[in-house]
Amino acid sequence: METEPPAVEWTGDGLRLLDQTVLPGRVEYVVVRDVGTLVDAIRRLVVRGAPALGVAGAFGVAIALREAAREGWDAAALEEAVARVREARPTAVNLAAGVDRVRPLMGAGAETVAAEAQALLDEDVRGNRAIGALGADWILRRLGDRPLRVLTHCNAGALATAGWGTALGVVRELHARGRVEMVYVDETRPLLQGSRLTAWELARAGIPCAVQPDGAAPSTLLRGLADLAVIGADRIAANGDTANKIGSLGVALACAAAGAPLVVAAPWSTVDAALPDGRGVPIEERPAAEVLTWNGEPTAPAGVAAHNPAFDVTPARLVTALVTETGVLEVSSGRTPGAARPARG
Ligand code: MRU
Repeated sequence: METEPPAVEWTGDGLRLLDQTVLPGRVEYVVVRDVGTLVDAIRRLVVRGAPALGVAGAFGVAIALREAAREGWDAAALEEAVARVREARPTAVNLAAGVDRVRPLMGAGAETVAAEAQALLDEDVRGNRAIGALGADWILRRLGDRPLRVLTHCNAGALATAGWGTALGVVRELHARGRVEMVYVDETRPLLQGSRLTAWELARAGIPCAVQPDGAAPSTLLRGLADLAVIGADRIAANGDTANKIGSLGVALACAAAGAPLVVAAPWSTVDAALPDGRGVPIEERPAAEVLTWNGEPTAPAGVAAHNPAFDVTPARLVTALVTETGVLEVSSGRTPGAARPARG
């Protein structure tokens, strides 16, 4: 099994990001040594996925400190740069949480901040391994110890994290146990994280998969072609409402209609326990060109408006299980993350 090149890596004086905008055609890297380049990389989805954004944000503070020293910034300019990193994308709570984790160490310098960011990266990989094992255990208990057909949406794999993946970590673990018959991969319009990234990861791991248009997902579930869906998350409210890539809600509704479990796999760092429910999740609106053009060519009449929310919120009642690195919460049965772990701060 080939292992994925890391999505985020600290080089000692900057970040090396695997450029996810050009996969699967090309494996290229963006080297980041200043805040402007990092913010641009986050906005363009060179680096993406909630846990990977958290790690990039934490290292981003070290980058800001190094740039401040180079350029002679005052304290206000440094704070403004850190805030730009923190706010580069709004929905995944991990980005702000990653920045906030290392902020108290800024006075100790860039190396100390980078060491803490590296600790976050290492924790994420360990956590994902635990999520994979706990998720596979729960699923095989629930559905029987047999090969399964799994549906997934977007990319919650090694590329979206510091390694291994959350939803795809569960799939990888099921595959290691010989329990994956097929993975239906939603292509995930408009930026195709499913077909470009998830299918790339699964193919490299030798896991059987088929890419399907997003619109096929409900039918795949209701026709009984998939046994369950496993997805990641960008922000989970205290009551279990779960924000994830646009289209996840359709998958969740179809799971409920088909009587198939919807499993959300995410680390505790994705739980925003200070947020009572999903109504408060900031939903990123992406540029119109992402849905009105293809390869630079228009796919809609000139002058037509676009509606391009990047995320949706699945109500807790539709989340059968939330798999974290410390255990599984059966959310739709009333086990909410807010009750299981108190709010931050
Ligand atoms: O816009 P993206 O590609 O950053 O969206 C990513 C997702 O929605 C993922 O499912 C989520 O961040 C979980 S990644 C482990």
